Amino acid sequence: MTLVLRTDALSRVYPSGEGQVLALSPFTHTFSQGLTAVVGPSGSGKSTLLNLLAGFDTPSGGRVLVGETDLTHLSEAQRADFRLSHYGFVFQNHNLVSMLTAQENIEFPLTLAGVPPRERRDRALALLSQVGLERRAAHLPHQLSGGEAQRVALARALVRDPDIVLADEPTGNLDSHSGERVLELLLAPARAGRTVILITHDREVAARADHTLHVKDGVVTAAEG
Ligand SMILES: Nc1ncnc2c1ncn2[C@@H]1O[C@H](COP(=O)(O)OP(=O)(O)O)[C@@H](O)[C@H]1O
Ligand SMILES: [Mg+2]
Repeated sequence: MTLVLRTDALSRVYPSGEGQVLALSPFTHTFSQGLTAVVGPSGSGKSTLLNLLAGFDTPSGGRVLVGETDLTHLSEAQRADFRLSHYGFVFQNHNLVSMLTAQENIEFPLTLAGVPPRERRDRALALLSQVGLERRAAHLPHQLSGGEAQRVALARALVRDPDIVLADEPTGNLDSHSGERVLELLLAPARAGRTVILITHDREVAARADHTLHVKDGVVTAAEG
């Protein structure tokens, strides 16, 4: 069964020196399956939105609903568990664990979920091959190029076949060839009916999404196409 991601008057205000920054104005939306591109200028609130959707951050108002679950009502620990079961997240700067190899990084969510070693290895190696890095399994993150590290991060996000995939500008620092590969890897779960949300600056990438959200000064507007 598909888990539907929804927001209900979701908002975020950051305190600042002279008053407050309204980083996200109350936003109510039901995310569709497939790929949603989130576009907008720097500082407009895109990462704020994604971090709230993942439950990394606590809203100032409103709710994030995943199926029947209200993320905002879970404890920190419950939220971490829930995220592990249902989410894959790709950070802008990949956030791989520097002491773990590519394969171990991909296995990590499976390790946390108590998957036995042999199955972990098989799944990590299958993912590595899917992202075209079977020969980089034993490399540490610093031994990978930026594009390779980002593909490993993507493999890690996808290894448990999550219902919801969130990616914060994963193609931002990549050349167009690597960016294209990352996009294709995100399109696969989108085609399989998962909810994939991608922040991007790249118009060509955004043009290939099923849905687009425009963010400006903390205001999110939905547009089809
Ligand atoms: N932790 C924070 N504390 C205060 N202000 C923040 C914080 N994070 C982001 N902001 C502000 O909120 C606004 C939106 O930021 P962000 O969501 O990171 O934008 P984007 O990802 O679109 O570049 C910006 O004005 C930014 O300066
Ligand atoms: Mg950002």
